[in-house]
Amino acid sequence: MDHLWVNARLATFDPRVSAPYGLLEGQVLAVEGARIAGLFPMDAPEVRAFRGDVTDCAGKVVTPGLIDCHTHLVWGGTRAADWEARLAGVSYTEIAKRGGGILSSVRATRALSEAELLKASLPRIHALAEEGVTCVEIKSGYGLTLEDELKMLRVARRLGALAPHLCIEVAPTLLAAHAIPPEFAGRADDYVSLICDAIIPAVALERLAEAVDVFCESIAFTPVQCDRIFTAARASGLAVKGHVEQLTNSHGAELVSKHGGWSADHLEYLDDAGVAAMAKAGTVAVLLPGAYYFLRETQKPPVAKLRAAGVPLAVASDLNPGTSPFASLRLAMNMACVLYGLTPEEALAGATREAAKALGRAERMGTLAVGKQADFLLWDVAHPAEIVCALGTNPLAARVVKGRAGDA
Ligand code: NIG
Ligand code: FE
Repeated sequence: MDHLWVNARLATFDPRVSAPYGLLEGQVLAVEGARIAGLFPMDAPEVRAFRGDVTDCAGKVVTPGLIDCHTHLVWGGTRAADWEARLAGVSYTEIAKRGGGILSSVRATRALSEAELLKASLPRIHALAEEGVTCVEIKSGYGLTLEDELKMLRVARRLGALAPHLCIEVAPTLLAAHAIPPEFAGRADDYVSLICDAIIPAVALERLAEAVDVFCESIAFTPVQCDRIFTAARASGLAVKGHVEQLTNSHGAELVSKHGGWSADHLEYLDDAGVAAMAKAGTVAVLLPGAYYFLRETQKPPVAKLRAAGVPLAVASDLNPGTSPFASLRLAMNMACVLYGLTPEEALAGATREAAKALGRAERMGTLAVGKQADFLLWDVAHPAEIVCALGTNPLAARVVKGRAGDA
């Protein structure tokens, strides 16, 4: 042990701790290098005998670092005009059919160089980091050519290499199957072949993504096409996940589960068979209430059924230019409570422990437990739920990533 964080109220989110939030009062968090080496009561002999660095947490609540497990934070341009049109009554689907929506972000993203795209994305990742995100998933999906998808993923990689200033880990995901690019209009199967035969192998070779995502939807890719993409992804050693049942039910969650996917995301139109398939496969349900809110959707994901079936519930911002244009995981957690009926404890677990599962990182992140990476946050709050409800001010007092403290 080389550093003790004493006088802490540890919201461990460790399921072995039965108190709400996995809360342990009056604790010492011991760090050795980049790992958590121990959790002790204040009067433990290990604490009394310790002669290294000590930080007094002064009774602050300490949580695991927040994990935003679904974002599209690299993009060019703006979709403000789309939003105006949606507010005036034009649907997301209609805008997409007119060549707006995702395809308008594709045009703007293709037009930017890697350096310009990096510059456009920086304020977004900074905003997430400032409110406690220590690990963020970033998808491609606004390039839709081999070169432009690789460009987006290289930007994601560079964003993750901004440490020590930023100290955020990036989990990159290939989402070439986000929309059918204009040059493949009417030839979607040919584009799927390009994804399977060229884009996935190139991304795997350069290790530019850990997972492959799809938009399985009436306005995007069919389950048969997504099945081909998942098969190619797994053959290249990549994990799979999907945007499924967001606008309609295409049985995408069953498909993701069939491939042993990390997560099925959105899920507003999920049916009972989808819930059962996810429970059986251990696939995480990633709830994205920001997109539900911005699309003024009225169909909610079947949270009670997912909970009853024991499907892990994660919460993410879905930060993207169209359906969820805000860089705040705290706001997403708040929406998960107010709009979807999660408890604040479930929302926080969804942005820590369950989000880690959705990114294949459960062994290393997501709870305060011995052996986990020492990513944790000190919050100036009297109750953990304040992290989720007290919006507009930032109660984050300190941020520790891989054992190293930075400014909040
Ligand atoms: O998660 N559903 C598809 N993808 C994004 C939207 C991206 C966009 O509209 O640019 C989502 O909602
Ligand atoms: Fe998304």
